[in-house]
Amino acid sequence: MHWPPKGIQNPYYLDDTVCLVNADCLDVMREMEAGSVDMICTDPPYGMNRFATDGKDYLEAVAPALRLSWDILKDCSSMFVFTSTGEVVKVANGLGQPLKRMFWMYKPGDCTYPLGGWLLTSEAILWFAKGDKLNLCERKPYRHDCYIHKRVGLEGVEGHPCVKPLWVVSDLVSRCPEGGTVLDMYCGSGTTGVACVKTGRRFIGVEISEEYTRIALKRILEAKAQLQLGFNG
Ligand SMILES: C[S@@+](CC[C@H](N)C(=O)[O-])C[C@H]1O[C@@H](n2cnc3c(N)ncnc32)[C@H](O)[C@@H]1O
Repeated sequence: MHWPPKGIQNPYYLDDTVCLVNADCLDVMREMEAGSVDMICTDPPYGMNRFATDGKDYLEAVAPALRLSWDILKDCSSMFVFTSTGEVVKVANGLGQPLKRMFWMYKPGDCTYPLGGWLLTSEAILWFAKGDKLNLCERKPYRHDCYIHKRVGLEGVEGHPCVKPLWVVSDLVSRCPEGGTVLDMYCGSGTTGVACVKTGRRFIGVEISEEYTRIALKRILEAKAQLQLGFNG
């Protein structure tokens, strides 16, 4: 396979397993070669300050990239999308792509906030699968379909407001075929990139903010350095 996939221009950082691009993901994805990635694992912005969904309907804001991703995915590949529970039905039904399952992530204390007398402590992870066959590495022992994230701040990342738990993202990308390529077109502080380094997958990350791209690169290079020293915690 061509590395990085044809169509990716001016990477912010490129080596033999990581390609980081500081750009609007739509501009990058429109140029990417069809069938060039083995998995997409992404966490689109939830309408936070300075993010591209501000003031827009959530589905309208993220659907163009999620729809483009379908061509970029190889056949028999999977896309995992983190979504707030308030948007889950819209995203599940609105993309026109086959939803396989929904997983839960329970995260008391992390980005938790009250609504109408309930404390919102969960997020959804939507699993879309392209093609009839699943081409995923099966993990044993089996993981329950509700990820319980009790300990907050384990990643120790400063400068990004919504860093996903590394162990959850690592579990998802570890199901990508070994040595395969994972795309995260809303890569933020680079959690998916770190997970790819730790699990031996190639990573393509796209992030619109230069500040966050810099944080992502720092984390990814630190993960690579730790791996070289024999640490992979
Ligand atoms: C929810 S955050 C992702 C956080 C990430 N999962 C992590 O663990 O750090 C979404 C990210 O998408 C980025 N973003 C928003 N619109 C974008 C666009 N059009 N292209 C690329 N990145 C974009 C935001 O700057 C933000 O960092």
